[in-house]
Amino acid sequence: MPVQSGILPQPSVHARFLVLRCRAADEAPARARLKKCLQHFDATRRRLQMQYADASLFSVAGFGPALWQQLAGTMPGGLRELQPLAGTFAMPASGGDLLLHIHGDRYDLCFALAQSFMAESGDLFEVLEEVAGFRYLDSRDLTGFIDGTENPQESQGRAEAALLGEEAGVYAHGSFVFAQRYVHQLDKWQRLSVDTQEQVIGRTKLESIELDDAVKPANAHIARTVIEEDGEELEIVRHSMPYGESAGEQGLFFIAYTKELSIIDRMLARMFGTSGDGSSDRLLNFVTPVGGAYFFAPPVALWNAIVAED
Ligand code: HEM
Repeated sequence: MPVQSGILPQPSVHARFLVLRCRAADEAPARARLKKCLQHFDATRRRLQMQYADASLFSVAGFGPALWQQLAGTMPGGLRELQPLAGTFAMPASGGDLLLHIHGDRYDLCFALAQSFMAESGDLFEVLEEVAGFRYLDSRDLTGFIDGTENPQESQGRAEAALLGEEAGVYAHGSFVFAQRYVHQLDKWQRLSVDTQEQVIGRTKLESIELDDAVKPANAHIARTVIEEDGEELEIVRHSMPYGESAGEQGLFFIAYTKELSIIDRMLARMFGTSGDGSSDRLLNFVTPVGGAYFFAPPVALWNAIVAED
């Protein structure tokens, strides 16, 4: 399979997300250690997957633009750092060199894979984010709304939205990744009536039915994130998961795979109010991004070539 294992399957019951900064990545010894750690990661996932086949353990490793350039010496067209936005709402960009997205049907195996990687890597990384995500009820976000209704569902549709095509050469079957942690203000959200919440999202709460255009506000979340080009909706593959502590920070680890980062740029501009049409996404009054970055998840052949080098 040319594609990293975690991209095309539907989100699992559990996920673990790590965003890491690599210390001294501009020095050859650090890069050599990094490659060993990535080999170890791959071998550990395969071993766990073989030992616990019914757990469906998947993973994706994505590289930030700077680290990718250090490792590969060339860049897939369109890979760049996420830029912060300052519109109606502020969006920070926190960067990161390595993103690990692990998901599967068992919490312990997601943990074990991450734990084994971090133990192997010693002090090579600074941890910017580590988030354990979970499926909440019938795949709902903590706002109580079903998240993923309009995600491409079939494998072919997911591949078309997420993966670079053959024209990308050695990068074909790779994917760009956008990861961004949100913290929810659930007290504020829960003070809204269900009717108002539905206006904010643009769908009904119980069954996720899209509101009629006649009643769907222009600043509803789905009105801001649906972008049509030549009569076709621009699609991304979302793998977001709720996370949180029962009496502490709670929110959504948003993660999406795309063949073109400019699609994400356009969605973010429309959400945060920098697209120039004078509108923004009302949902952002209730959820706040606290960090985010762009990554590139190489296809398996390129991954193997990169981590195998001395
Ligand atoms: C805390 C942050 C977010 C929450 C709680 C959230 C929640 C939701 C919900 C409930 C839906 C409707 C059901 C569905 O089709 O999945 C939705 C749709 C969608 N969201 Fe978000 N979302 C968030 C952030 C984002 C971001 C950052 C983006 C893009 C950069 C995005 C892109 C989309 C897209 C493309 C759709 C599908 C629209 C459609 O085709 O109808 N979302 N989101």
